[in-house]
Formats: sequence, structure tokens, C-alpha cells
Amino acid sequence: MRAELIDGKAIAADVRADVAREVAALRARGVVPGLMVVLVGEDIASATYVGAKEKASREAGMTGGTIRLPADTTQAALLTLIEQLNGNPAVHGILVQMPLPTHIDPDTVIRHIRSDKDVDGFHPENVGKLLIGHTDGFVSCTPAGVIELLLRSGVDTRGAEVVVVGRSNIVGKPMAALLVQARAGGDATVTICHSRTKDLASHTRRADILIVAAGRAEMITGDMIKPGAVVIDVGMNSVPDATRANGSRLCGDVHFASAVEVASRITPVPGGVGPMTIAMLLRNTVRAAQRTVS
Ligand code: GUN
Repeated sequence: MRAELIDGKAIAADVRADVAREVAALRARGVVPGLMVVLVGEDIASATYVGAKEKASREAGMTGGTIRLPADTTQAALLTLIEQLNGNPAVHGILVQMPLPTHIDPDTVIRHIRSDKDVDGFHPENVGKLLIGHTDGFVSCTPAGVIELLLRSGVDTRGAEVVVVGRSNIVGKPMAALLVQARAGGDATVTICHSRTKDLASHTRRADILIVAAGRAEMITGDMIKPGAVVIDVGMNSVPDATRANGSRLCGDVHFASAVEVASRITPVPGGVGPMTIAMLLRNTVRAAQRTVS
């Protein structure tokens, strides 16, 4: 079997087109959705992600921008800035790019963002709403993007055995919480595996849908996948590659060459889950703006 690719770039473009229509409808009512991104420090990967978020929000017709702060910004100064953004009615969504410098506590920062502007879905109030199935909160963008990919690709999660590899607060845990909800994109039987799981392959080989978000390059190989499974690779790793001009290449947490021979459908890296994360951030921001008028 050679798996069909799930084209995250194309599906994300569809979501972004939907968002742009919703932005236009809000603008017609005099409301311009605004997303403000805060970047502390000079981490190169973070600067790239933030640039992509800013560009995408502009292309969708939103306002906002990026506030870039030096790496030695104090936690108190960052909290003061968040309070200003919390009180600014033109800012509907606030995103503080992670990771933060080590002298700043990310949980304190996340709790400071008003939960109705927390378009990252990281605030405990939004995480709690997700768990109990309330749909008026915000869901973390990457797991929300995975559900959207599955829905728009016609992959039925109902009654499916889904194995999630990874238990992060940003992906693994909210992913599992979404998959067990009693609604479209949910109704799955979910197993969460992590670094302490015994005999990982015995779990992954049971999965009708395997979602990997462990942050370890190419850790899932074809022999760990059930023939015909749908494989969603959330990983984004840079590994050394002497054959490339820049000395490195991007790869997922799934060993693509062996997995593609076993799975029925698979997301590539890049071009799979990655574009969906930004699309869902835009969708969360337009929702935040819609809730201020309805
Ligand atoms: N760093 C890596 N991914 C994310 C994300 O989705 N949101 C934020 N705020 N920081 C990140």
C-alpha cells in the first residue's frame, strides 16, 4: 500500500478563505478583527513563526501586528503590556509566543491574558471548557487543526481507535480531549502514549488513526503502524543532513519513507499539520471578534 497524502496546505487555504469571508462580514459591521502577537527575545524559529502569523492575519483582512521585546524584558513589564492589550477593544486576540526566556514563568503569563482574548487556547479556563465540552472557549490551534484536517479529509473518528503519542499541554492532552467529545471529529476511543509508555509499538499498531506529537525525529517507523491506518504527523524537527546546502532538513516524528508504504493516508512534513495551526489561529481570532458583537 502506498498512502495518499493529506494536503494540509490546501485544506488550510480553504479554512483561511472561510476566515477571510467572516472578516469581511465583520468589517461590513464596522468591526475589524485584531490579533496582537508578543515576541520576547530573539529565538530564530520563534521569529519565523511570528512573521508567518502576522502575514497570514494581514492576508485575512485583520489588523494588529507584532510587539517585539528584548530578551531581558522583566516579567512585570510583560504583564503590564498584557494588561494594556486586555483593555484595548481593537485587540480581539492576544498571543504570547512560546518559549519565553527562562526568567519569565509561562503559566503566570498565560493566566494574565483575558480568557476571551486567549486565541492560543492555553488559559486554564479555555482548557477546562474544552475538557467539559463547552464550545464557547478557544481550543489550542494545533490539535484543533488536526481535527479540521480529519473532518475535511473525510476521515471518520467515530468509534475509531485513535492513539496519540505525546502528552504536551499544547498538543497531546487537548488532542485527546477533542477526540473523546460526543460530536463530529470526536467519538473516538483514545489512548495517550508518552515517554514512559511500555512497548509503544503494541499501542501504535492498534491505531486506526495514529497522531504523533512527541517531538522526536522519525521515532515512528512503518513497522509500528497498522496497515491502512491514517497517520497524522505533528512533528517538526530539524536534523543534520550533509547533502543539503544549509546542512539540515526538516522532518516529522514519523519516518515518512517506511510509513507511507503501510498507511492509507498520511500528512507530510512540511505541508501537513503546520499550515493548519496558523489557519486555526486566524479562525480563533475571528471568533473572538464575532463574540464582541453577538
Ligand atoms: N510556540 C510554538 N507553538 C506555539 C503556539 O501555538 N503558540 C504560542 N503562543 N507559542 C508557540
